[in-house]
Amino acid sequence: MSTSTLVITGASRGIGLATARLFASEGWRVVNISRSPIDLEGAVQLGIDLSDAGWESAQSDELLASVAGSARIALVHNAGLLGKDSVPTLDAAHLARALQVNVIAPQQLNRLLLPVMGAGSSIVYVGSTLGEKAVAGACSYVVSKHALIGLMRATCQDLAGRGIHTACVCPGFTDTEMLRAHVGADEAILGSLAGSMTFGRLISPGEVAETIRFCSLNPVINGSVIHANLGQVER
Ligand SMILES: NC(=O)c1ccc[n+]([C@@H]2O[C@H](COP(=O)([O-])OP(=O)(O)OC[C@H]3O[C@@H](n4cnc5c(N)ncnc54)[C@H](OP(=O)(O)O)[C@@H]3O)[C@@H](O)[C@H]2O)c1
Repeated sequence: MSTSTLVITGASRGIGLATARLFASEGWRVVNISRSPIDLEGAVQLGIDLSDAGWESAQSDELLASVAGSARIALVHNAGLLGKDSVPTLDAAHLARALQVNVIAPQQLNRLLLPVMGAGSSIVYVGSTLGEKAVAGACSYVVSKHALIGLMRATCQDLAGRGIHTACVCPGFTDTEMLRAHVGADEAILGSLAGSMTFGRLISPGEVAETIRFCSLNPVINGSVIHANLGQVER
């Protein structure tokens, strides 16, 4: 059995599933954390709802058992929650839920797994173009993705000397269920989003997966925000 393990959140579909399949094709063990199962032979599935902060006390033993014996761990914080909300109306409960899934859960996983992560391991955060700019109607997402970049930068500083590196990959419009649900599966809106990219198309989950893989394996990018947005046309 390989002693290199990918621990990824949100690999039941989309960018996470593409990433898990890519790592598995290169011989990595895969441990996925999401509510619904991953479609990948041999992967370990941990059915955890990251919106419930109490998952840590209930399921941390199971998580630690799943990575036992791993010499190298690539931890990829990919699960995300994208809501439609704005500053005038966003209430505390909805903001707290977004922060729990998008920021607090990654830190819960960091704290649990870092004691068993050796040199050569990595922590990659999946942020968003909205980690460095805002658009209307996505307040909790914008706030949490900005915070995730802060967490990545703190990770870089706090792990200095341990041989563990980090980065934040910020995708643009990627053709997944999250994007389709956000626009109500409206093909006209999807077409308009595609038209806002310099290549005139949406990004594929596999393209983002390749970027995550690069960041996981190359310590030279430690502490970096890596945009994977196919060049958004500025208007
Ligand atoms: N698609 C885009 O255009 C785009 C752009 C920028 C950034 N991103 C970021 O890329 C990442 C992946 O997005 P995606 O587009 O691949 O989304 P997706 O297809 O909707 O997949 C989201 C994943 O997150 C998991 N997840 C959501 N809530 C969870 C919870 N409470 N507990 C555990 N797992 C949970 C889902 O699993 P279950 O539902 O099975 O639990 C699913 O596997 C996210 O961080 C997103 O913010 C996406």
